[in-house]
Amino acid sequence: MSDKVNNRSEWFYPPEDLVRSAYVQDYEAAYARAQADPEGFWAEQARELDWFEPWQQVVDGSNAPFYRWFVGAKTNIAHNALDRHVKTWRKNKIAMIWEGEPGDVRTFSYYRMWQEVNRFANILKSMGVKKGDTVTIYMGRVPEMVWAMLACAKIGAIHSVVYGGFSDQALTDRIEDAQSRVVVTCDGAWLRGSIVPLKDTVDEAVRRCPIVEHIIVVRRTGNEVYMEPGRDYWYHDLRGLPIAATQCPTEVMDSEDPLFILYTSGTTGKPKGVLHTHGGYQVYTSTTLKWVFDINDEDRWWCAADPGWITGHSYIVYGPLLLGATSFMYEGAPAHPYPNRWWKMIEHYGITILYTAPTAIRGLMRFGSAWPNRHDLSSLRLLGSVGEPINPEAWKWYHTIIGKSRCPIMDTWWQTETGGFMITPLPSTPLKPGSATRPFPGIEVDVVDEEGNSVPPGTDGMLVIKKPWPSMLRTIYGDPNRYVEQYWSKYRKQGWYLAGDSARKDEDGYIWIIGRIDDVLKVSGYRLGTAEVESGLVSHPAVAEAAVIGIPDEVKGNAIHAYCILRAGVTDDGHLEATLKDHVRHEVGPIAVPARIEFVASLPKTRSGKIMRRVLKARAMGMPEGDISTLEE
Ligand code: PRX
Repeated sequence: MSDKVNNRSEWFYPPEDLVRSAYVQDYEAAYARAQADPEGFWAEQARELDWFEPWQQVVDGSNAPFYRWFVGAKTNIAHNALDRHVKTWRKNKIAMIWEGEPGDVRTFSYYRMWQEVNRFANILKSMGVKKGDTVTIYMGRVPEMVWAMLACAKIGAIHSVVYGGFSDQALTDRIEDAQSRVVVTCDGAWLRGSIVPLKDTVDEAVRRCPIVEHIIVVRRTGNEVYMEPGRDYWYHDLRGLPIAATQCPTEVMDSEDPLFILYTSGTTGKPKGVLHTHGGYQVYTSTTLKWVFDINDEDRWWCAADPGWITGHSYIVYGPLLLGATSFMYEGAPAHPYPNRWWKMIEHYGITILYTAPTAIRGLMRFGSAWPNRHDLSSLRLLGSVGEPINPEAWKWYHTIIGKSRCPIMDTWWQTETGGFMITPLPSTPLKPGSATRPFPGIEVDVVDEEGNSVPPGTDGMLVIKKPWPSMLRTIYGDPNRYVEQYWSKYRKQGWYLAGDSARKDEDGYIWIIGRIDDVLKVSGYRLGTAEVESGLVSHPAVAEAAVIGIPDEVKGNAIHAYCILRAGVTDDGHLEATLKDHVRHEVGPIAVPARIEFVASLPKTRSGKIMRRVLKARAMGMPEGDISTLEE
C-alpha cells in the first residue's frame, strides 16, 4: 500500500450537496474546538442525552489509566436508547426492520421494541437476575438478541455476548470468566440454508459450568432441542406469562457502572473481557455515529456486522437507538441464496447507508458486478468500512459499483477496546482510498517510535492514543493488571494508550493503518490470537508444539497457516490435517480453522525459546528472513 501514500491523484472529494447537508461540515474547526477544551467538548456532546443526575466532573484521571467519565452522574443507556423516545413522536417511528435468511420480515416501532425489551427485562428479573449480575448471550442474528442486550442494560445487569461462531469450549471459558448464572440462546440459527445448532453447543458448554442455573431459549429454526426441566425455558412460553409485563422500571445506574463485557483476542490464549460502562459509552457511540454517518430521520441505516462483535454492539444496538434512527438487520449469509441478496435488500428497503467490512466486499466482488448492477442502488448516499485496511481494488469496486462513484466511503479505524470510531473521515473529508484519514474530534493519535518520538511522514511506527476518551475500555474484567500491562505499560511515562497496530502518517496528516504488531490476526475481519489457535492445536494428543501465522489471502485478508511438531511416535496417516482442523473447529470455533496445517520437525525459535513467527511467515512467503541474530540454531 505504501506506493499509494501521497499519491495525489488518489484524492476523492465528496459531492458538494452531501457536504452542505452534513451534520459537521468543517472538520478542522470541530477538531480545533475539541482540542482547545476537551472536557467542554465532551460535556456538550453528553448534554444531547438524558441524565437522571448531572456529573460533577467530566473526566477524572487521578487514578489513571483507570479513568472515570461523567463522574457522579446517574443515567441508563436503555433509558436513552428507548424510554425517552417513546415519550415523543418517535414512539411510532420504525426502530428496526429485520429480514431473516429464509425471507421472513419483522418490523418494530420504538414503542414495540420498548415493550419487548421490558418483557425480556421482567423475565430476567423473574430468574433472579439483578444489578451487577452477568448474563451470557449466545444467539443468532435475531431481534431477540437485541432485546436481551437492552433488557440487561435496563435492569443494570452486565451482558456478555459470545459470537455464535465460537465453539462450546470457547463458550465455557467465557461463561466461567463472567460467572453468568443465566444464558440466553436460540434453538438454532440460519446460515446458508442450514441450521447452526446453537442450543446443542450451549448444552455442551454448560455441562462444564455448574454456575449456570437457567437457559432461556428463543425458538428460531424449530429444530429439535433438549430442554432440561427446571433449567431450560422457551422464551415464547415465558413471554406469555404475567411476569413478562410490558412495563419495567429502568434501573438508575452510575455513569461508571458496567454495561457489558465483550471478549476479544490478545497475545495470550486466554481471551480478554473488555469492559465498557453506561455513561461514556452512550456519549461516544451516539456522537460518532451522528457525525460520521450523518444519520437523519429519513435514513435507513444498515450495519451489516453481527451484534456479537463490538461493531454490532456500538452501531447496530446502541448507537442507532440512542439517535432514534431506523436500522436494518439481516440474519444470514451475504450470498444466500444468490449473490445479489444484499443488493436486493438495499433496493427493497431503500437503505441509505451501508457499513460493512472489506472481507465482505471482497467476497461479494468475486461474484462480479452483474449482480449489484441488476438492482437500483440509488438510495445509498454513504458507505462505510471497518475491521481491517481496505485494499484499493475493493475500495474502487465498493465506490464505483455499489456507490456509483457518488457515495464517499467512511473507513473507520477502531477496536473493541475503543468502543467507537477513532480514526475516521466525516462525510465532508476528502478521502484517499485505503486511509482511515484523520482522528475524530477530541481524539489525539500519533505514530511513534519505540521511545515515543513522532516518526516522520512515510515511516512506519506504533499507533498510540494520547488522551483518554469517553468510551475507552475501563479494564479487563477481573484482571486490572493485564489492562495496565497490555495497553498502558509501553508508554507509561507519557501515559499513552498502545493500540497494538502499526501505522504510517503521510504529509497531509492522513493515517494509514498497516496491521497488528502483536500476535493477533485478522481473518475475514474476525480478531483471533495466534495463541488461541495454537492452544487449540496443542490440545490434540498428536501435537507437541504448534505455531500459527497469517498469510495474505484475497478474500479473507489473512488465512491461517499452522505448523505442527508431532509427538514422538505419531505419524501422519494422511488424515491428520483434516482431523486437526476438526479439532480446532471444536475447540475454538469454525472461524479459527487453519487453511493449511504443515507438519515440521522443528520451529524457528529465539535462544530464550520464543517461536519466531516472523521467520515462519517470511519463509512461507519466500521473503528475506530479516534479522535472525537471535535465532537459535
Ligand atoms: O488492526 C486493527 C483492525 O482491527 C483491530 C481491532 O479489531 P476488533 O477489536 O475486532 O474491532 C474491529 C471492529 C472495530 C484494530 O486493532 N482494524 C479495525 N478497523 C480498521 C482496522 N484496520 C485498518 N483499517 C480499519 N478501518
